[in-house]
Amino acid sequence: MKVFLRSAEFDEITACCMFGFIDDATTNPSLIAKSSQNIHDRVTGICKIVHGPVSAEVTATDYHKMLAEGRKLAAIALNVAVKIPLNEASVQHCRTLSHAQTKVNATMYFTTSQALLAAKAGPMLVLPFVGQIDNIGRDGIGLIQKICTLYANYDYPSKILVASVRRTQHVDKATLMGANVVTFPLKILTALNHHPLTDSGRNAFNARLGKNRAVKLVA
Ligand code: E4P
Repeated sequence: MKVFLRSAEFDEITACCMFGFIDDATTNPSLIAKSSQNIHDRVTGICKIVHGPVSAEVTATDYHKMLAEGRKLAAIALNVAVKIPLNEASVQHCRTLSHAQTKVNATMYFTTSQALLAAKAGPMLVLPFVGQIDNIGRDGIGLIQKICTLYANYDYPSKILVASVRRTQHVDKATLMGANVVTFPLKILTALNHHPLTDSGRNAFNARLGKNRAVKLVA
């Protein structure tokens, strides 16, 4: 399973790549808006740090403008994946770019039927938003399970990227569903290092070590 960092911060992305757990990065316009750069310059910078497909989102909503924007984003670097939010024009847009061998990530998916629409257009990745679905009282992880079943039943080649992760439990469950990729922010990566038993075990070990400072690592 691949793990992407949801970030537009150069320092964060560099540190996490060095840590070795992160395969790629996903961004969106609101993350980039927090930086002082425009989308083109920020994505260019991120593509120099991360080798895998960096997903960069189009902001236009009409087919022709989306297409022009998608092509501009794709031209930034070979490792850009154009991220296309779902609307009436986006499935066609997604199909046009995918057929031109551009990497496409279809984003903002909330139902199995929407994921069926996406699959017909052939994007590389489809992004269901688990946290936002939970927020409206529905079952985000349940949706991931259903889309995994749909894609397996009909051999759709698109891969599933679990997005809008809010809790470590989302990551735990996504790993067992057959989803291909999960993206989450640094705070979730940090939280994955913790568990009550990991923390108490580490504290107990440190306390014992404190009393036995004379113990050497090697002879
Ligand atoms: C992916 O990159 C999406 O933009 C992101 O996961 C959405 O997450 P949010 O629900 O925290 O905005």
